[in-house]
Amino acid sequence: MMNIAIIGTGNVGGALARGLAKAGHRIRLGVRELATFKGASLLEASPDITAHGVREAAQASEVIILATPAQVAHEVARSLGDVSGKVILDAMNGVFARPEGFEHTTAAILANCNTADVVKCFNTTGYENMLDPKYGDQAADMFVAGDSTRGKEIAGQLAHALGFGEVWDFGGLDKVTLLEQLALSWINLAIMQKHGRGIAFKVLRR
Ligand SMILES: NC(=O)c1ccc[n+]([C@@H]2O[C@H](COP(=O)([O-])OP(=O)(O)OC[C@H]3O[C@@H](n4cnc5c(N)ncnc54)[C@H](OP(=O)(O)O)[C@@H]3O)[C@@H](O)[C@H]2O)c1
Repeated sequence: MMNIAIIGTGNVGGALARGLAKAGHRIRLGVRELATFKGASLLEASPDITAHGVREAAQASEVIILATPAQVAHEVARSLGDVSGKVILDAMNGVFARPEGFEHTTAAILANCNTADVVKCFNTTGYENMLDPKYGDQAADMFVAGDSTRGKEIAGQLAHALGFGEVWDFGGLDKVTLLEQLALSWINLAIMQKHGRGIAFKVLRR
């Protein structure tokens, strides 16, 4: 069981909260307004999901998932407080709007908090696939990138707990942009080319 904070409790944060609570993890939602936050219904989904201020949720957890709009990644990272020893998983995509002054959200997080254990994961597919990665007897794959081995191990464990198939290591921080391009490729197929959101990537291996 891991103590996991989720900041950004909309489509993605909500799907991850539901799935990870179901898998036995303790989820603390970190929200701006306890009375009005998106995803308040998550509290009824499981007794293992509770809502707190952003800093309080982060401080009580060893793993922090960020799933807010990309433009505020640097501000959100700063608002977590002391995160030394903690792992941060970045599920955001800056393909349409990046945090100002940064190449991507992962760099914005690294520059604005005191942990080097930051990796990009859960950004490459639609939130519906995070709620249910199974396609018949197959499971969608997940992808992770960044310079933290520990971060990648935890991301992999959580992806498997959600039901994803293989978790592919895309490489270091220099591959985060490529991972965002993979997300854009999914968006292109699902939305722009109108194939629908019920599609997911899987790598074949001989
Ligand atoms: N939608 C997808 O299928 C998908 C898939 C992969 C990755 N992503 C990425 O995941 C991120 C979230 O997408 P989404 O569709 O889940 O968005 P969403 O449903 O609009 O939810 C955004 C959440 O972020 C919170 N938020 C916004 N600004 C904040 C701040 N300054 N501090 C703390 N929380 C803040 C909002 O809080 P309130 O409740 O207070 O409004 C809301 O809970 C984006 O970066 C997106 O690119 C999305």
